[in-house]
Amino acid sequence: MVNTLPQSVPKEPKVGIKTPSKETVLTPRFYTTDFETAASLDLSAQDTELKAMLEEMRADYNRHHFVRDEEFKQSWENIPPETRQPFIDYLERSCISEFSGFLLFKELSRKLKGRSPILSEMFQLMARDEARHAGFLNKAMGDFKLSLDLAEVTKTRTYTFFPIEWVVYTVYLSEKIGYWRYILIYHHLQKHPENQFYPIFRYFESWCQDENRHGDIFKALLRSQPQLWKTWKARLWSRFFLLSVFATHTLTVHERAGFYNSLGLDATEFDRQVVCNTNETAGRAFPVMLNTDHPEFFSRLHYCSDQNLKLVEIDRSSAPKFVKLIRKLPYIASILWNLLRLYLIKPIDTEALRLTVR
Ligand SMILES: [Fe+2]
Ligand SMILES: [Fe+2]
Repeated sequence: MVNTLPQSVPKEPKVGIKTPSKETVLTPRFYTTDFETAASLDLSAQDTELKAMLEEMRADYNRHHFVRDEEFKQSWENIPPETRQPFIDYLERSCISEFSGFLLFKELSRKLKGRSPILSEMFQLMARDEARHAGFLNKAMGDFKLSLDLAEVTKTRTYTFFPIEWVVYTVYLSEKIGYWRYILIYHHLQKHPENQFYPIFRYFESWCQDENRHGDIFKALLRSQPQLWKTWKARLWSRFFLLSVFATHTLTVHERAGFYNSLGLDATEFDRQVVCNTNETAGRAFPVMLNTDHPEFFSRLHYCSDQNLKLVEIDRSSAPKFVKLIRKLPYIASILWNLLRLYLIKPIDTEALRLTVR
């Protein structure tokens, strides 16, 4: 499942270059896929939608958007340490996640060239957007003298193999959850400009439209493949990926509650809004959505998040690795058990809803 490109010898970090944070189950991953299968996908069922999306992508509405304005040209020494560190972590996580999209899309575009021209161009245009997003975030990290060496990250990171079907589910969800994360922060700061401690948040409104378009392209891809929504297996996988993405979100947002607090947001409420909105949106593409109104839904997710904070605490302790593992096991088991119970909550059949609406 997991393969790593040849590891280069670890180098001393250069001045102003941040050593990337350690990879964990919760950090954004780099993906590779089965390019042969991707090239042979029959897209005819969504041909009109895909061609319309391609026109939109070519129009490149945000081509002048990612330009740093005057407000960036100042010192950021005034940001207090309790805000600074979680903010840098946030920038790094976002940058890695945008860059991971760029690498995957670029590779898909390259491998599909001459074989699936529409998809190849689509991926090239999406890679263009993600490169802008990652670059913009990395420049922001540069303001804190902590840029990432993305060329080095490309060489040293672990690449996870996902069959193309899983790529479609997970990238769709990560684009849509990205959209909701950006837009909710943007709207909150519109109402509370006093919490806008750095100018990057002003860019989120048009930025999230890129993610929304990317999500729509993946929706068209998903709907073009009946095996991704018409079968009982598709329903099980959809539940699995929805839950994985939401659980990862809840856990990471609560790990970085300090960052959300510094924006004047309540981490738990922000997470709830992101999860509920993404779930509703995903219902338009997936054959099922999760029942977020079920009384156990958020209570079990929050329980997992509390257990995860204990894992973080153990990780930070100075105990030997083996002792840490022993201490972590009961918490890991309890998280897995709760995730299983969450998975078993009856989902909402969105295909049936669609038929009723018609
Ligand atoms: Fe992006
Ligand atoms: Fe995107």
